[in-house]
Amino acid sequence: MEKTANALALLRQASFIRQADDFGDVVPVFKKTVWADKPVSRAILHVTALGFYEAYLNGGRVGRFIFAPGWTSYRTRLQAQSYDVTDLTESCNVLEIAVGRGRRFHARTDEELPDLPSRDIALIAALEITYEDGTGETVFTDESWTCSKSNVLYSDIYNGETVDYNAPTDGDFPVRTVDVPKDILILTEGEESREMARLPAVERITTPKGETVLDFGQEVTGYVEWKVPEKQGAEFVLYHAEMLDKDGNFYTENLRSAKCEIHVISDGRPHLYKPRFTFQGFRYIKLVGFDADINLEDFNAVVVFSDMKRTGFFACGDELVQQLYENVVWGQRGNFLDVPTDCPQRDERLGWTGDAQVFARTASFTYDTRRFFRKWLHDLAADQRENGAVPHVVPRVWDGQGSAAWGDACTIVPWQVYLAYGDTSVLREQFNSMKRWVDFIGTECSEPGLWDGGSHFGDWLSLDAGDEATAGFTDDDLIATAMYANSVDITIKAGKLLGEDVSAYEALYPVIVNAYRTHFLNDGKPEHETQTAQVLALTFGLTDNPAREMKKLCDDIEACGHLKTGFVGAGYLLHVLSDNGRTDLAYRLLLRREFPSWLYPVTMGATTTWERWDGMKPDRSFATPAMNSFNHYAYGAVADWLYGDVAGINPDEQEPGYRHIVLRPHPSKALGYAKARLLTERGEIVSSWEYTGEGDNCEFSFTVPDGSHATLYLDGETYEFESGTHHATFEFAGF
Ligand code: BGC
Repeated sequence: MEKTANALALLRQASFIRQADDFGDVVPVFKKTVWADKPVSRAILHVTALGFYEAYLNGGRVGRFIFAPGWTSYRTRLQAQSYDVTDLTESCNVLEIAVGRGRRFHARTDEELPDLPSRDIALIAALEITYEDGTGETVFTDESWTCSKSNVLYSDIYNGETVDYNAPTDGDFPVRTVDVPKDILILTEGEESREMARLPAVERITTPKGETVLDFGQEVTGYVEWKVPEKQGAEFVLYHAEMLDKDGNFYTENLRSAKCEIHVISDGRPHLYKPRFTFQGFRYIKLVGFDADINLEDFNAVVVFSDMKRTGFFACGDELVQQLYENVVWGQRGNFLDVPTDCPQRDERLGWTGDAQVFARTASFTYDTRRFFRKWLHDLAADQRENGAVPHVVPRVWDGQGSAAWGDACTIVPWQVYLAYGDTSVLREQFNSMKRWVDFIGTECSEPGLWDGGSHFGDWLSLDAGDEATAGFTDDDLIATAMYANSVDITIKAGKLLGEDVSAYEALYPVIVNAYRTHFLNDGKPEHETQTAQVLALTFGLTDNPAREMKKLCDDIEACGHLKTGFVGAGYLLHVLSDNGRTDLAYRLLLRREFPSWLYPVTMGATTTWERWDGMKPDRSFATPAMNSFNHYAYGAVADWLYGDVAGINPDEQEPGYRHIVLRPHPSKALGYAKARLLTERGEIVSSWEYTGEGDNCEFSFTVPDGSHATLYLDGETYEFESGTHHATFEFAGF
């Protein structure tokens, strides 16, 4: 994509247009023919739409951005793109831009989302042509454009797409201008979503119900590209699913109201079809209308996600842990499609703030998330309510707001991005949003420092509140007050780095800690003594007696033998144990295979991270379809323990962006070896260890890039390293 400074200025001279007639659900294609009577030296297409667009010049696809212009808070922010289309130009240039409904409809009600800048889809474009003789012209969208009906009769991200290759697509219909404020136009901030991989179907299954199902062997987010059988008038249908049920039948109940169906009607000619304005989260597809002799090679899953640079890698000697790690990476691929979403399949696919903050640290190791999160954080700030409350989902598509651990995304995500890349600009850009959030919390407190009342999701999907409960047993007020302390702490640290006056927050912080201690700490109330309660007190330094909270936590884990934490506690749990001298117990939790554990889904064949610890039960029945996604990244936050505490690569708050690397490996004979790599701007960091088989001898190897230095913490000792590769053998009994 091109960056041109005058893109917005040009687009502001163009008009938003849409089809003048009612096309119903049919996706329109807007058209303009532009004659170039002199040789063209450069042509740039500036374009955006309310809805998703796909542009073609002389039949060639413009750019590789899938679901352009991306998803932002359209009320105030609509990204525009600029593409260099010089290579596609001829003397007669036919520009065609299809616009699908995009993120305009509510999944469950199929109603248009409230407060959008226009009730209609709308396109705006400017084609800027420079001739070799130095002259130029710009063609703007206006009422001189025409439009036709495409063969896409229906397209919606949740429900899928219907294409009829027999549908007439040659008509020329008028367009009309639409009144959309142009001050919402912004240059593109995020990464482009692109087709990142193609996976072949690996198995054809005839289910007990007699249905024909293809398995791609991996749950992915994207769509299927397939050869449409050449049978004039015949309809072929693809259904998508994440799982087969315990009998081996195709299972779609957990998609809730999202239909995830593709209907294609053949015109008897060959077509390689793939949807253009919809995606699904799936591993399996069910085929209806096809002949018995299906070729697996005719079907490929196209994996679509934000084109971020892969930066982090982990490998170890335990197959299940390795698979767990791969699942976490797939969870990120599946849910970093322009916006950090909860899940890619059911009728949500929303930018749930809580999930994003839980996973931000892991995400920013595995991929370079700078642009991805920067864009989303700008949307978060734009969608923050007047009183400072952060919406539950960003972009905001409905009115829920102000939950602890969800709204805290506004401090935690920028802070994690800062730690990972060492760039204060994300803090500068978000500082006001952070302050507004913590100030909002202040107005919710019944006494200074105590965030009580309000409406929260609690320790979502934890295991201590009974089977059907979603919110967990830990007291909401305890979680809220702990998160408040953490958000104020981050705001203070960010403010100091930026040279801001944070004295009011510095005065507030001890008041919150004190409120926490007075109301929640060690009072014997069961809802204050949960695993998550101890984890929060220890992680955020809220206890005056860490040994006591640590003992309670470990006793509880030892007594039941497993974790009970939900979204709020799980990501911190293993860190707390290893930071407080119980790496052995952390490993026990990591390596546990039975429910509940991180490896349990792996033993059940998971290829992504599940939303619930028991999405599929040991007897292969499912948890409630009302809330059971098999691609939810939150519990995948465990991977930052793999990177940081197993292999041992950590950032340092004092010298972020890995200028100073905190090497904290915890070798384990059970794993045999572990290795993490991280590509930073200064070069590659490597940390690895391996048991060689001779007693307790463990071989370590560390690579520190130029411009960085490292401290190794091992077995109570510290060692300093400058750049270069360092090898050492230590005797280390291991965990
Ligand atoms: C989403 C979550 C989200 C939650 C709020 C769910 O429906 O899928 O991941 O955080 O609601 O508690």
